[in-house]
Amino acid sequence: MARKINKKSGAKRKTPLSEIKGIRKVFLFIFLISGVVNVLALTGSFYMLQIYDRALTSHSVPTLLALSALAIGLYLTQGLLDVSRSQILVRLGARLDHMLAPLAHRVTIDMPRFGFSTPEAAERGRDVDTIRQFLGGQGPLALFDLPWMPLYLAFVYFLHPWLGIMTFAGALILTTLTILTEILTQKHSSSLQQAALSRSALIDMHARNAEVIRAMGFSGRAIARFAKANSEHLDLQTRTTDITGTLSGISKVLRMVLQSAVLGLGAYLTIMGDLTAGSIIAASVAAARALAPVDMAISQWKNVVAARKSYARLSETLTAIEDTPHSVQLPRPQRSLKVERITVAAPSNGTVVLSDAAFELRAGQAAGIIGPSGGGKSTLARGLTGVWPLLRGNVRLDEADLTQWAPDDLGQYIGYLPQEVALLDATVSENICRLEPNADGAKILAAAKAAGVHELIVRLPQGYETPLGPNGTALSAGQRQRVALARALYNDPFLVILDEPNSNLDAEGEAALTQAIFGVRARNGIVVVVAHRPSALAAVDMLGVVQNGRLAAFGPRDEILQQQTAAASKNVIAHPAPRPAA
Ligand SMILES: Nc1ncnc2c1ncn2[C@@H]1O[C@H](COP(=O)(O)OP(=O)(O)OP(=O)(O)O)[C@@H](O)[C@H]1O
Ligand SMILES: [Mg+2]
Repeated sequence: MARKINKKSGAKRKTPLSEIKGIRKVFLFIFLISGVVNVLALTGSFYMLQIYDRALTSHSVPTLLALSALAIGLYLTQGLLDVSRSQILVRLGARLDHMLAPLAHRVTIDMPRFGFSTPEAAERGRDVDTIRQFLGGQGPLALFDLPWMPLYLAFVYFLHPWLGIMTFAGALILTTLTILTEILTQKHSSSLQQAALSRSALIDMHARNAEVIRAMGFSGRAIARFAKANSEHLDLQTRTTDITGTLSGISKVLRMVLQSAVLGLGAYLTIMGDLTAGSIIAASVAAARALAPVDMAISQWKNVVAARKSYARLSETLTAIEDTPHSVQLPRPQRSLKVERITVAAPSNGTVVLSDAAFELRAGQAAGIIGPSGGGKSTLARGLTGVWPLLRGNVRLDEADLTQWAPDDLGQYIGYLPQEVALLDATVSENICRLEPNADGAKILAAAKAAGVHELIVRLPQGYETPLGPNGTALSAGQRQRVALARALYNDPFLVILDEPNSNLDAEGEAALTQAIFGVRARNGIVVVVAHRPSALAAVDMLGVVQNGRLAAFGPRDEILQQQTAAASKNVIAHPAPRPAA
């Protein structure tokens, strides 16, 4: 099941199952248990053979009793082994889940910043579920039984060659049906999955835009869009189920026909004196047993395909989490931020949004970033935090490029307040301390005070323990922005990046923000603050202008502001405002 080496990259390709130690041994063990189970499954056939051809002919009750006791013993052993191989598989699934679910969740967290929708991101987590459920279901048992089919064919062949040939032909037809199912469903299964994803993406989007949809009354149109996506999904599902259902039905009928045909042929051979009566029944039972795994495989095919898809995608996921080793933990940065001609592209579509931006800040400095909408300010902020990867150039903290840190390690030295503030569905203090377990209350308090938000928090019904609800909806937009500022300042990060931190603030909030920036500078940190409104620039000493995807100017604040004012007035003279019509 587990593929081993990806020859193309030359590196050992990670596959979910190969992550489990000793997995080959476990599979070999299950395969062998399956062998024993299958040999024991011949008990019924042998029992009938013996009853008809020995006990009945000899009229011996002790023989009958002995045979029956033996058969019961064998049945019990078979049952025990059957149960234990199921249990091993269920536990294997659980172990896999235990190991992989956190990794898959890591990818889920990472995917939205590369432009994937929430359902697409969540799918990685569901892959783990699919594989676990598959391992615990009937599918793998059918697959493990399949290689033992020749055992039954040999048994039937041994009873009479013609019966063997007939069963073999039946098995061949059923196997062809399985392959046909595979070919016919393969075409649909990826479109079916795509349709399911688009449907979930719509649900997600509508739920997120609930207020807007309600206020402007276009829920009817939203529902119509959902209904369309839903029926596309349903159509595909119906078509796929039709195929597997029909083929599964055909195979069931074929099996019954075959079973009766074995009986009929057996009867004919008995009439001809070639076979005993016991052999007819034994052959019929063994033939049925031989074909059962094929039948099961057909009915389980949908699950097999789904599990295989999930498995492949999970392998990709695991290969994608290529951990660059960070054997040396770099010390806390304390001197400088150097931005060396960075070019940043939007990860979702690869278009370059900001090119060749370069500037330098020393500890204790703060830079404001201004410029028109869509110019690339937030992109610069994302490049500085490492949220978006750089196409070219470096961002260095004390000379070390950001990629030299393990992400979680770097995160403690960075404070980031994104333009669109979203808080976690947790308490105020959990939000501020970034979910740190057993966080130091004094540090939380210090961050809240540095952000000037302590009074605001203690006025909340449960103070620091107030749960914020999904996306922090228990707070107003301005309150959220200020709690998020406290989160950015938690644990005194060296580099604090604030993307339009004052967009929702009142005068008191703006004063607190100015104080916060001064505070970071005073403790020798660095602040980069993106701002449309000039009030946030009171505390900065440097200023950059980002427009049309470039850092058009960078220098001391007042110098740049003067240049900007001069340029603006020149523009006004060159293009005088139209006079109002008389
Ligand atoms: N996730 C994204 N995927 C693709 N393109 C993006 C993405 N985010 C932003 N862009 C593009 O990058 C350009 C710069 O966007 P950015 O958000 O950096 O602008 P900004 O200067 O912060 O604007 P604003 O002042 O409105 O916040 C825009 O033209 C936008 O179309
Ligand atoms: Mg922006």
